[in-house]
Amino acid sequence: MMMFQMTKLFVSFFILIFITCLSFALPNDQLNKFSSSDEQVLQLFKLWQIEHGREYGTTKEKEKRLEIFKSNLKYINEMNAKRKSPLQHRLSLNKFADMSPEEFSKTYLQEIEMQISSKSDDRKHEDNDNDTENLPASVDWREEGAVTDVRDQGDCQSHWAFSVTGAIEGLNKIVTGNLINLSAQELVDCDHASNGCAGGYYFNAFGWVINNGGIDTEANYPYIAKNGTCKVNANKVVSIGNLYVLDGTEEAFLDRVSKQPVSVSLDATGLQFYAGGVYGGEYCTKDSRFATLVALIVGYDSVDGEDYWIVKNSWGKDWGEKGYLYIKRNVIKEWPYGVCAINAAGGYPITTVLSSSI
Ligand SMILES: *[C@@H]1O[C@H](CO)[C@@H](O)[C@H](O)[C@H]1NC(C)=O
Ligand SMILES: *[C@@H]1O[C@H](CO)[C@@H](O)[C@H](O)[C@H]1NC(C)=O
Ligand SMILES: *[C@@H]1O[C@H](CO)[C@@H](O)[C@H](O)[C@H]1NC(C)=O
Repeated sequence: MMMFQMTKLFVSFFILIFITCLSFALPNDQLNKFSSSDEQVLQLFKLWQIEHGREYGTTKEKEKRLEIFKSNLKYINEMNAKRKSPLQHRLSLNKFADMSPEEFSKTYLQEIEMQISSKSDDRKHEDNDNDTENLPASVDWREEGAVTDVRDQGDCQSHWAFSVTGAIEGLNKIVTGNLINLSAQELVDCDHASNGCAGGYYFNAFGWVINNGGIDTEANYPYIAKNGTCKVNANKVVSIGNLYVLDGTEEAFLDRVSKQPVSVSLDATGLQFYAGGVYGGEYCTKDSRFATLVALIVGYDSVDGEDYWIVKNSWGKDWGEKGYLYIKRNVIKEWPYGVCAINAAGGYPITTVLSSSI
């Protein structure tokens, strides 16, 4: 075990050096030549396989994966070479490096139909709070102990369920002082307005928790990364009063995120290999409202004049910055729906129904 860990560490280190050399030591014109050197790529692929414990059943499959790996490596190098500052997002040969963008999209991305509600339906809107002058310069709910561990959804598109449990976990901690892991699996199994491991959206899942009168803990109702049968006798450990929807302004988001974590959707198409830094939406169209992932904003901050949201994802801790995405904010003028549509539809639970808001 120890030996294995040492090897893994060594391999990770070696890959890091290798990539660093590829991306920075070589002038751009040599980069392509070097990365297309089959022998070098094969060696790198073998190291990557060891690091990720990835084996393939047939030689044919291995060859196919090597080709995909090669093409991904080229893309990663090209994108990293375009970085203008160390703050900008970077890509790496992560655990998704043997998946083609099409395969990745099929497994992890869902075409999300924005369910922007109208005033007449039962989802409540909160008016924009324009008073942002007194807000803290930065907020990080992780530091307040209001965010549970980053989960790995695995081969199940349950991102929407983890976004919802994350938002309720945060609210529950803020209101009661207790941080409790809640059951995303219960939402996958029981919220029939969503599609389980085939995807879903936060509106329905919050609605399910409201109507059910609560949600169970993850300990009682563990995650299995596949569709299961709804356990009707599950506990109702944490309940919520209602779901509120944010208007898309920066102010409304800042105000709300300063009070609690907020569920959002965004287009994550460009994030397969995201390894850290502030993502500027390089893959997205500025006026697009298209989204493919539901996640959770757990804070905001700025670094060297660059404002960003802190976003908790459910692709494991070995994706992004320990499972988190940093994405540019305060760009509503150029991006009417936020970078990659992250401000197009934000939602958050409240504990009780406020009659004055109906
Ligand atoms: C916030 O500002 C907008 C215009 O930017 C205005 O229409 C709205 O009434 C304001 N809301 C509040 C609560 O002051
Ligand atoms: C939540 O679950 C994780 C394991 O996924 C565990 O390490 C952690 O202690 C739990 N947190 C709480 C607050 O129970
Ligand atoms: C999971 O259930 C949803 C419907 O709730 C269905 O659309 C989907 O195909 C199921 N997935 C699997 C892998 O059975």
